[in-house]
Amino acid sequence: MASRIVVVGSLNADFVLGVERFPTPGETIAGREFAVIPGGKGANQAYAAARLGGRVSMVGQVGDDVHAELLKRNLAEVGVDVAHVEIDESASSGIAVITVDAQGQNQIVLIAGANGTFDVEELMKSEEVMAQAGFVLLQLEIPLPTVERAARIGKANGALVILDPAPARRISDELLALADYVTPNETELAALTDSSFGEHLVARDAEAKARELLSRGVRKVIVKMGAQGALLVSAEESQSWPAVPVTPVDTTAAGDAFNAAFAVALADGRAETEAGRFATAAAALSVMRRGAQPSMPTRGEVESLMTTPPRV
Ligand code: RIB
Repeated sequence: MASRIVVVGSLNADFVLGVERFPTPGETIAGREFAVIPGGKGANQAYAAARLGGRVSMVGQVGDDVHAELLKRNLAEVGVDVAHVEIDESASSGIAVITVDAQGQNQIVLIAGANGTFDVEELMKSEEVMAQAGFVLLQLEIPLPTVERAARIGKANGALVILDPAPARRISDELLALADYVTPNETELAALTDSSFGEHLVARDAEAKARELLSRGVRKVIVKMGAQGALLVSAEESQSWPAVPVTPVDTTAAGDAFNAAFAVALADGRAETEAGRFATAAAALSVMRRGAQPSMPTRGEVESLMTTPPRV
């Protein structure tokens, strides 16, 4: 049986607005559509991993409001164990207001709500399930001390820790060094290394910046570069996984799809290179559909994309 994947992180209700183009400051524009969709980087990774066939537990917190039930039910429907999702009765659930333009690019404003009050004391209620984890998946939408403690518990129990440093925040070298894999996108890599890449990060710069993180104690870095694919950098090697060419509809949660798929593939016993290919295919599929959790692919969809890439 594949190892348990424990995701420690956020759950958000995503308020998604579809627009032709983003408004400029002070401008009012007409939107095209609106929907409330289950999201949150932690919950998205849990949902995606379960949909791909992983054994998954979600550890996190919702508020005492109308969104809480939807956020838990959506995860439970794909088989995620939600017994470790706590409720903060004094907070709202996390909210993300996401504007998506006609090219599928997004802008996100976050209200942390109950994600922001998910402290170490709350986390420790789930110590038992964390001790059973083969993989611990982390992101940065909950307090950093909670992320760090979860990483320490994972490490102490022999789990593989995959840290998604998203959204972009500065984090300590202690936290970086606790992760087996750190998986920034271009913006997050810039924040972690105090850099500016302008419009696009080229692979050569990405590798140099990833090596900077290795020198700060990170074991392996995977730079997620969207349409340019992903780059794995470790002390021994660097290898790139080309993106599967697709026409994006909504890029929200593509990074979450990648991390979840990478963990599921490793949990299945696939080698790193194969897991990277599986993850890039899962991320490609997720940008072809709207929304965070509704865009997550099944294992069958990923495997068929890997064997028959679409013509774009
Ligand atoms: O990674 C995508 C997620 O970021 C969205 O679902 C939104 O909730 C924000 O947290």
